[in-house]
Amino acid sequence: MDIDQKKLPQHIAIIMDGNGRWAKERNLERLKGHEHGSRTVINIAKAANHLGIKVLTLYAFSTENWKRPASEVAGLFKLLRRFIKEERETLFQEKICLKVMGNIQKIPFLVRREVLKLCRETEKNQGMILNIALSYGGREEILQAVKKILQEGKKTISEKQFSKFLYTRELPDPDLLIRSSGEQRISNFLLWQSAYTEFYFTDVLWPDFEESHLYEAIIEYQKRNRRYGAIITKTF
Ligand code: IPE
Ligand code: IPE
Ligand code: MG
Repeated sequence: MDIDQKKLPQHIAIIMDGNGRWAKERNLERLKGHEHGSRTVINIAKAANHLGIKVLTLYAFSTENWKRPASEVAGLFKLLRRFIKEERETLFQEKICLKVMGNIQKIPFLVRREVLKLCRETEKNQGMILNIALSYGGREEILQAVKKILQEGKKTISEKQFSKFLYTRELPDPDLLIRSSGEQRISNFLLWQSAYTEFYFTDVLWPDFEESHLYEAIIEYQKRNRRYGAIITKTF
């Protein structure tokens, strides 16, 4: 079966999991797994962009991932800097617009500066939005929204207005959420936004995740019947 271009998910979110296990299986350091995982990122971003996906949100580092050993955390940010440097040209060629979301004040200054610079430079690109969740936690995102709302002295608020205080304010909710590595949990990702998202779990570890796995997930998504609590099938 092929992908139906008329039923493409607008927004795909991915929990990129399994780098550590991939490395362990090969008797390698965990960081080697992350290094291979970062190669998967650009391949999947290109594939999604070519398909015509509007937004791809990738969970790269959670608020809880700060609990990992300092050396692993430092290694991950080093890889992010490398990604920014090495994939800069590709992002322009692909007309991809880079965004980051999360408590990015916590990430090391140099990385933050370079990432934000590339976000500004690619802002006008008309292709897919590649949204990287960095030091991101769904609970923290909701709490920071509540704090801002309180500061503004609002007494009442609608769901739509509330969404404007989230990091994803300009983005549609994810239609499809993929998690690699066999884990079947949300791990504090997009808690508010995934209310009616379709979930797809695969045992494939993130460094082994290929274009074909993305296509399989989309094909499976296209078979789902999205009802949003109603009875009539919502057509795409
Ligand atoms: C995902 O891979 C990457 C990050 C969370 C940064 P893991 O590092 O969680 O890999 P596993 O789950 O240990 O295999
Ligand atoms: C979720 O993976 C976070 C990212 C992929 C960035 P984790 O490996 O941190 O999640 P848990 O600990 O298995 O729930
Ligand atoms: Mg993991």
